[in-house]
Parts: sequence; structure tokens; C-alpha cells
Amino acid sequence: MAVIWCVILLGVISNIEAKPFCKFDDESSRHLECSPGDTDYVLDKGLVSDNPRTITIRLSICKISSLSNDCFEGLPRLERLDIAHNKLRTLPLGVLDKLPKLTYFNASYNRIINLPVGLFDNTQNLIQLDLTGNHLYEINPGLIKKASILYLSKNYLQGRDIHPNVFEISDVNFLLLNENDMNGAPDNMLRTLRELLFLNLDKCSLTEVPKFITTINLDTVTHLTMADNKIVAINEPIFDNLKDLEVLNLTMNLLDSLNDNLFTSLKKLKKIDLSMNRLKVITEHQFQNTPVLSDVNLSYNFITILPVNAFRASALSNLDISNNRLTYLQDNFCLELKNSGAALRDFNFSKNPWQCACLRELLREVKTMNLKYDDVNYDGSRPVCVSAGQFVCKRQVYDNQVFLDMYDLIH
Ligand SMILES: *[C@@H]1O[C@H](CO)[C@@H](O)[C@H](O)[C@H]1NC(C)=O
Ligand SMILES: *[C@@H]1O[C@H](CO)[C@@H](O)[C@H](O)[C@H]1NC(C)=O
Ligand SMILES: *[C@@H]1O[C@H](CO)[C@@H](O)[C@H](O)[C@H]1NC(C)=O
Ligand SMILES: *[C@@H]1O[C@H](CO)[C@@H](O)[C@H](O)[C@H]1NC(C)=O
Repeated sequence: MAVIWCVILLGVISNIEAKPFCKFDDESSRHLECSPGDTDYVLDKGLVSDNPRTITIRLSICKISSLSNDCFEGLPRLERLDIAHNKLRTLPLGVLDKLPKLTYFNASYNRIINLPVGLFDNTQNLIQLDLTGNHLYEINPGLIKKASILYLSKNYLQGRDIHPNVFEISDVNFLLLNENDMNGAPDNMLRTLRELLFLNLDKCSLTEVPKFITTINLDTVTHLTMADNKIVAINEPIFDNLKDLEVLNLTMNLLDSLNDNLFTSLKKLKKIDLSMNRLKVITEHQFQNTPVLSDVNLSYNFITILPVNAFRASALSNLDISNNRLTYLQDNFCLELKNSGAALRDFNFSKNPWQCACLRELLREVKTMNLKYDDVNYDGSRPVCVSAGQFVCKRQVYDNQVFLDMYDLIH
């Protein structure tokens, strides 16, 4: 059967090269893979349709410019359909209606502007829907009925134009909205999601943490990432409803101030990435009473003050404070950390304008306590600290500037 199929297809291909060339990857005719023809192609009924055995169709990178609404008919067992990297501007209503088993639909990297309401009405088993990298400027409310993993990354969505009922689907676990402009999105936009675990808002041009992450139903979210935005400050304890949050990523923002109790309600928080911001001071309470918080990344900030109390009653194990403006840490920093409940193992403190006397004490401590630290930087081969006259560690904020100036001179 498969052999006959191939012969027929080969015959067709040699006459009309515009058609993609499709062949089954096995004897059982279950997995169909297509490669492009020479020119753009309108996918009609016939090329991939009408095979009761097909389970997978791969039509990615096939120069397909549009679909007829019956091109996927007669595929009662189809579970996975991949039409990524084509030239589609929309998908016709009805095109997915005869695919009752469809669980995976990948239409990423096309030129889809919008999609008709009703398109997904009959795909009741859809699990993964990937619409990444299209030109979607709106999502009609009621369009997406069911999907556990929903990729809407890299589209032209504008928060201020988004309808508050856009996500009336309760079962989404993974929602990726990164690389859209999410400023001004409705405050209650996510209120119907009951099982959200992972929310990606990277590169969304955000200037503040959006209110839509504060609705009480979001107490299921475990991962929230807002990397590479323009958030300047977080002055309210805005994460308080995210009771299950384990990983919070705020790297590459413009943060210079954080509410003192920002993380206090996050009793399941394990990792926080605050690297590449503009923080200058970490307050005494900042990470206190976060009982499972083990990874804190504060690298690439302008921190001059880092009290050991900030980590009291946390589970700190991996601390990165490299590339900051620290000239000293308080006496017995690591020991104090340990006494306050933390279990520090990895400690990266390189690339700070350390006073040599303070650095020496710190190195002695990390060695005694057997911590992993960035020892390549302290092998004596490059200047890593500054010293002014007497070799004592001066632990006063007002002494800092002298050492900062000296460090800047040699770097
Ligand atoms: C969809 O296709 C793109 C392009 O081939 C691929 O990078 C992406 O991983 C696919 N999405 C899923 C959910 O598999
Ligand atoms: C935070 O996001 C950045 C950018 O996507 C990534 O490189 C980094 O690994 C993330 N941090 C954590 C702790 O996951
Ligand atoms: C901390 O963040 C910086 C910059 O984002 C990254 O290069 C570094 O690997 C991170 N540190 C750890 C321990 O993950
Ligand atoms: C420590 O931080 C510096 C600067 O951010 C980085 O170059 C180095 O790889 C880090 N070391 C380790 C062991 O992670």
C-alpha cells in the first residue's frame, strides 16, 4: 500500500513541481512528512487528506500560502499536525472540524493576522496549540476553547486592545505571551484560568508588573517570568496571591526599588533571578521568611549594601552577587548566614570593588566553610580588590566611595 502511494506521488511530483512532496516514514502509513516544491502552493484536498491511518502530518517549511477548508478531511486518526514556517495569513473556518483526535497543532511562524471564531470548536482534545511568530494583532474572545499549552509568543498583540474575555478557557497550564506588547492589558484578563502553572511575559515592553497577575485564581502558578522588560520599581507586594510560586524571573529590567515584603507571602519560592537590574540596596527584610528559597541571583546590579539579615530564615544555598558595587560584607557573613538557617553552598562574589582586607576575610571564610566560589578570579593573576593604606576592612557605608573610586580607576 505504502509503495503504491509513493509511486503515485512521485508520478505527480515529476509533472507539477509546485506541489510539496509527501511520503510516509514507515510501512504502516502513520507518519507523513512533506518537503517543499519549487513554488508557493495552495493546499487542497488530496495531498494529505483521506487516509484513515495517518496519525502525524508534517508540512512545515512547504511554501504553503493558503489552505482550502477541506484539505484535512478524511483523517479520523490524526493527532499531530505541523504546518509551521509557511506563508499562511489565516486558517479557513472548518479546516480543523474533521480532526476529532487532534492533540497537537503547530502553526507557528506563518503570517497569520487573525483567526475566525469557531476554528477550534471541534478540536476538543487539543493539548498543544502553537501560534508563535505570527502577525496576530487580536484574539477573538471564544476562539480558543481548549489547550493545555498555549503559545502566543512573538505576535503583534497589544495589551491595550486585548478583550478582557480573551482567555475564557479554564484548563491552560502553560501560557506563553512573551514578545508581545502587554502594556495596558485588562486587569482581569486571566481571571478564568484555574490551572495555570507557567506564565511567560518576557520581552513584553512592561513598565510595571501587570495587574492581571494578581487575580486570586492564579494561586496555582509555579513559574512566572518577566525577563527583559522595563520595570522600574515594584513598590506594592503585588505577588501576594501567587501562593504556589516557585520560580520568579525578573532579570534584565530596570528595577531600582523593591517593596520590603515583596516575597514574604511566597512560601514556596525556590528561585529568584534579579540579575541585570539597578538595585543599590538590599533591605534587612528582603528575602526573610521564605523557607524554601535556595537560589538568589543578584548579579549585575549596583548593590553596595547587602545585610546578612536579608536572608534570615530562608534556605539560601546558591547566591550570586557578582558584578556589583560591594566593597565589604559584614563580619562573618557566611557563618552568620548559616546560623540564621541558610545552607549556602555556591557563592559567586567576583567582580566587586572589594577592599582587599575585606576580601581576604571573605576568602578565608569561604575556604574554611568549604563553599564553592569563583576561584579562577582569585588566583592572584589579576587585580580583584583595592587597598588604601592600613590593611583593615572598613565596614562603614561612608567609607565606600573612596574604594569605589579607586576600583573604577583601575578598571
Ligand atoms: C512548532 O514548530 C516550531 C518550528 O518548527 C518549533 O520550533 C516548535 O518547537 C514547535 N512547537 C512545539 C510546541 O512543538
Ligand atoms: C531568567 O530568564 C533569562 C532570560 O530568559 C534566562 O536566561 C535565565 O536563565 C532565567 N533565570 C532562571 C533562574 O531561570
Ligand atoms: C546570574 O545571572 C547572570 C546574568 O543573568 C548569569 O550570567 C549567571 O549565570 C547567573 N548565576 C547563576 C548562579 O545562575
Ligand atoms: C561568577 O560570576 C562571574 C561574573 O558574573 C562569571 O564570569 C563567573 O563565570 C561566575 N563563576 C561561576 C563559578 O559561576
